[in-house]
Amino acid sequence: MTKKIAVLPGDGIGPEIVAQAVKVLQAMPELNLEMEEAAIGGAGYDTAGDPLPEATLKLAREADAVLLGAVGGPQYDKLDRPLRPERGLLRIRKELNLFANLRPALLYPELADSSSLKPEVVSGLDIMIVRELTGDVYFGQPRGIEVRNGERVGFNTMIYSESEVRRVARVAFDIAMKRGKKLCSVEKANVLECSELWKEVVIEVSKGYPEVELSHMYVDNAAMQLVKWPKQFDVIVTGNIFGDILSDQASMLSGSIGMLPSASLDENNKGMYEPIHGSAPDIAGKNVANPLATILSAAMMLRYTFGDEANAQRIEQAVRKVLADGVRTADIYTAGTKKVSCSEMGDAVVAALK
Ligand code: NAD
Ligand code: IPM
Ligand code: MN
Repeated sequence: MTKKIAVLPGDGIGPEIVAQAVKVLQAMPELNLEMEEAAIGGAGYDTAGDPLPEATLKLAREADAVLLGAVGGPQYDKLDRPLRPERGLLRIRKELNLFANLRPALLYPELADSSSLKPEVVSGLDIMIVRELTGDVYFGQPRGIEVRNGERVGFNTMIYSESEVRRVARVAFDIAMKRGKKLCSVEKANVLECSELWKEVVIEVSKGYPEVELSHMYVDNAAMQLVKWPKQFDVIVTGNIFGDILSDQASMLSGSIGMLPSASLDENNKGMYEPIHGSAPDIAGKNVANPLATILSAAMMLRYTFGDEANAQRIEQAVRKVLADGVRTADIYTAGTKKVSCSEMGDAVVAALK
């Protein structure tokens, strides 16, 4: 049966990197994928006056999975907040109820020299960060900028309900059960009530997973431990804002932010798949971006939404082979390897599928 993929390239390097992932998927006709493109972010604003046009949301709802590039750009930063590209991305996550964001930080052995950390610190690294994606200070009300006592104040609300914590904690425990059975919950319960409740609920959920070794860490310490000795972690579960920050940090353990894919899932494993990085306006349009995070996101799509582990691994093996052959985009280039463009990297992965 044909599976329908909504392809949302977005802004900046989005179209360049998504084109490579689409090329890889098209090289596997046995997947029976039907792909349809639509605008999101700044592209949505430019074409329909809305960073999440009605037609795009409809396409995404009807599709079996969504493949997204990135949104945003300096030309949109002065727009009213509801019209900004980033709001389109937050809205599609919320509308599709994609509360569980899986961000695997994995070091391909060939890239040990590309990481800014010592090879012995990062070699063999394999961490799964489970980031809650539809709650927290990202969506909490009230929020705004207003005048109080004669000066402007900006405010947001950090808030989690126990049901929101429980469902993402379950996802994280389930993943830990399939991996090293170690889960670290990251929060700031020494200061924030919101985190205090988070921790309590995670402990409640842990009763259903006696085999998983649960630990708790404050986010400031977690940031330090991630660069000190990242291999102490197996699965990390954390809230939206902490997960946003820690996953960018963890990406450098895997060599480059251009290497880290993600899956954003609802209760039924319907998902949106996107690299964790942004639209990289500084390199957009130059055909130099690393498309591997997006290609690896397509592999996650096969694994999590379509339950097709074999073909997910086929893409991941192709990426491994390309890296073993010394093919590198600029961000992961080291002396003695071969520097290629974004589209050449896509071609190399397609060739390695064979
Ligand atoms: P960014 O991730 O776009 O870029 C940070 C740095 O990493 C830049 O130097 C960039 O060139 C580099 N980089 C990122 N992806 C790369 C890749 N695939 N290959 C090589 N280098 C890469 O973050 P930023 O500069 O803070 O944000 C730029 C814009 O992107 C902003 O408008 C921001 O809101 C948006 N953004 C969007 C998403 C998303 O769509 N999911 C995520 C983060 C940021
Ligand atoms: C990410 C991005 C987004 C986030 C922005 C662009 C809204 O940084 O996907 O990590 O903060 O979630
Ligand atoms: Mn981010």
